[in-house]
Amino acid sequence: MTKLTSYQGLTALITGASSGIGALIARSMAARGAKVILVARNMDKLQQLAEEIQQQGGAALVLACDVSDRSNVESCVQAALAQCDSIDILVNNAGYGHHRRFLDWDIDDQEQMMRVNYFGMMYFTKLLLPSMVKRKKGWIIFIASVAGKLAIADETAYAASKFATVGLAEALSLEVEDDNVHVLTVCPGSINTPFFDEEALERMPDVAKRTMAEPEKLVEQIIKALARGKREITYPKGIAAGYIVRALAPGFMRKQVKRLTVK
Ligand SMILES: NC(=O)c1ccc[n+]([C@@H]2O[C@H](COP(=O)([O-])OP(=O)(O)OC[C@H]3O[C@@H](n4cnc5c(N)ncnc54)[C@H](OP(=O)(O)O)[C@@H]3O)[C@@H](O)[C@H]2O)c1
Repeated sequence: MTKLTSYQGLTALITGASSGIGALIARSMAARGAKVILVARNMDKLQQLAEEIQQQGGAALVLACDVSDRSNVESCVQAALAQCDSIDILVNNAGYGHHRRFLDWDIDDQEQMMRVNYFGMMYFTKLLLPSMVKRKKGWIIFIASVAGKLAIADETAYAASKFATVGLAEALSLEVEDDNVHVLTVCPGSINTPFFDEEALERMPDVAKRTMAEPEKLVEQIIKALARGKREITYPKGIAAGYIVRALAPGFMRKQVKRLTVK
């Protein structure tokens, strides 16, 4: 039952659907028959995507929402539920990152990053989970990050928000399993999306640029993982070896991670 093999008749709400990974997940789920609710701040981009999905025979509606604002999220969920019977799939994806030293990192932005990347996901989950538990049916996908498993320099606030997300997702997955609600944690490595602006790309070490993966491949893996009932994936998969090395040989791992530090 928790294996998501058919999207026909299901409704999926995707946050951060105006760009990158979220937009591709929305396209992919819509193409498989799900009605998609596209959520983000940029309404023009959401509208464009909704039109594209509708032209291809899919069903999509758009809702503007700043996920960092709790009352905004409440209104968004209310508006979504007014337009569909239930939400079966929640894709917690909206997020952003910066690469800067903790010493130089403005505290307001550190707080905002936690609000968007962690609290936004928590708000949507808190509002939509009860009906999933009641109906004994639901899937919640958290787009976390490898940065939620392995911290590197210049990513303090980002890593903290993603470690928090991984913790929330992992604990929740255990709590709601018997209610037939399936939680999938996704830990992508570097993925080629607008997430990295020009400045970030310029500062990125060559080795990281060379190993950057395409978002379409990540989304394929997410769809596969849902079909197989997996609870956590890292993409590219090989990076997960780093989690084991870190646990068994933290000193060695530290040296490898330092190679990724931008000068
Ligand atoms: N790309 C990577 O290498 C990578 C790696 C690991 C994890 N991730 C994670 O993957 C997720 C998606 O990132 P992406 O690579 O697809 O980046 P992206 O192309 O920049 O997309 C980010 C999305 O988040 C939305 N968003 C940002 N702040 C928001 C806010 N306050 N309220 C509502 N929506 C907001 C943006 O929409 P609006 O601007 O329209 O609001 C946009 O749709 C993020 O959680 C990111 O941390 C990315």
